[in-house]
Amino acid sequence: MTRVLFTTSELYPLVKTGGLADVSGSLPAALKTAGVDVRILLPGYPAAMSQARQQSATSLPSLQVGQYEVTLWEIRLPETRVPVWLVDCPPMFDRSGSLYHNPEGHEWWDNAHRFALFARVAVLLATGSAGTDWIPDLVHCNDWQSGLIPVWLATLPQAPATVFTIHNLAYQGLFDHDTFRALGLPDSLWHWERLEFHGMLSFIKGGLVYSDRITTVSPGYAREIQTPEFGYGLDDLLRHRREHLSGILNGIDTDVWNPATDRLIAKRFKSGQWNKKALCKRSLLRETGLTNDNGEAPLIGFIGRLVEQKGVDWLLEVMPGWLEKGCRFVILGSGEQHYEEPLQRLAEAWPGRVSVTFGYDEALSHRITAGCDALVMPSRFEPCGLNQLYSLRYGTVPIVHRVGGLADTVLDPEEAGPDQANGFCFSSPGAAGLNESLGRALAAFSDKPYWQRLQANGMARDFSWTRSARDYQLLYQSILPDHVSDRLYPPYGGKHHA
Ligand code: ADP
Ligand code: GLC
Repeated sequence: MTRVLFTTSELYPLVKTGGLADVSGSLPAALKTAGVDVRILLPGYPAAMSQARQQSATSLPSLQVGQYEVTLWEIRLPETRVPVWLVDCPPMFDRSGSLYHNPEGHEWWDNAHRFALFARVAVLLATGSAGTDWIPDLVHCNDWQSGLIPVWLATLPQAPATVFTIHNLAYQGLFDHDTFRALGLPDSLWHWERLEFHGMLSFIKGGLVYSDRITTVSPGYAREIQTPEFGYGLDDLLRHRREHLSGILNGIDTDVWNPATDRLIAKRFKSGQWNKKALCKRSLLRETGLTNDNGEAPLIGFIGRLVEQKGVDWLLEVMPGWLEKGCRFVILGSGEQHYEEPLQRLAEAWPGRVSVTFGYDEALSHRITAGCDALVMPSRFEPCGLNQLYSLRYGTVPIVHRVGGLADTVLDPEEAGPDQANGFCFSSPGAAGLNESLGRALAAFSDKPYWQRLQANGMARDFSWTRSARDYQLLYQSILPDHVSDRLYPPYGGKHHA
């Protein structure tokens, strides 16, 4: 049975800032079901350590990693059989604030050191030097926080194979040259073909240059990141590694996100039970203080991080026009203040029609997903996107920018047949495109049988992990037989250098 160490900086339901947590909380369980012997490695943040105490976890003997003493605690991912090792190093991870930011909202000054230590521990585990009798065949790394793992493993004989998954190329883990030195990385790595990126140390390049295979979370995004428009300066490297790059669409946890069993929503429902879904809408309108209008006015939701990626500025531009026509909007998000302020002003200007909730609220996100008629995702780019998958499953019609995973999952009536169409897409980036697709969506909304067909099509799609977990498993198997363990800092293209 293939042994895989899955390294991640977020894990639902323990610690989450975005979709990486959802994927880390559900893909390993699906891999386990598919017959992969998978274990997760996660930093020992306070919420994770409190889970360890609840589970009366056992620990391995302490490790010395540089100047730090590290203890590995073994817990189970709640509701699964998947073991999780927590990297308990209080000076690094026992902090209030968020995973990556201090309470004032600035990145922790020592993020490079925190995730370098995390990578060191992964390497010790991966090479059997952490006192475990379980040694992986392969390490599956996720995002920049895991970027140094393939780098260090590449220097070691007999090291396991590595897969690096890009969840978001916009976050690269960039640090200055002093940090590069402080981490004790060899000078030979300060090179544009290795870890240097425009005068900075790039953690993500570690994963992109040194891993055996690169994946990203949708086939569409795998193509896009090879272009200058979406490549964030790394498109050249990604084109260079295109034979080792693939896109595997994220699945969703169909137990957590199931309208027929969801205990967080007002009324549980299945496809076709539109009266029950209407009760969810009524309850959401009441909860958010929006006027009901007999439930006839279209209710449009937005859930997400309030950052440039998510196209909040385009949404802000088009909202007034649709509010005048009677639409209701319910917004849940947290992020940058320059998006929060105009949203707040809009809510004040349109009482009863706009509700905004700032902060992170898992339960409310379920009720919005269940209670809205449509969910809007005007993302500038979207590696996969999970909210559109959740909304499809809850009969809430997505309206999205045709990029990345949104383009792979939302099928517009202009391109898909009546048995397939499940949402609306716009191609040209900007408020005008969004406005046009909202117009088509709202015209469709007034034709109930047609709208219900879109809803039913969305609910019929299978977004469970089964297929994608199988694709990861095939990928693992494809690397393991010919895995060469003596790669010494190969430049682009995997050639050895003297
Ligand atoms: P990203 O990872 O870029 O943030 P995704 O769509 O992949 O985008 O995943 C976002 C996840 O975070 C979803 O599970 C979504 O419901 C959740 N989420 C985002 N913002 C909030 C919020 N303010 N409150 C509750 N859940 C949120
Ligand atoms: C990222 C992306 C999002 C994706 C998620 C999980 O944060 O922005 O599109 O769904 O990771 O892979």
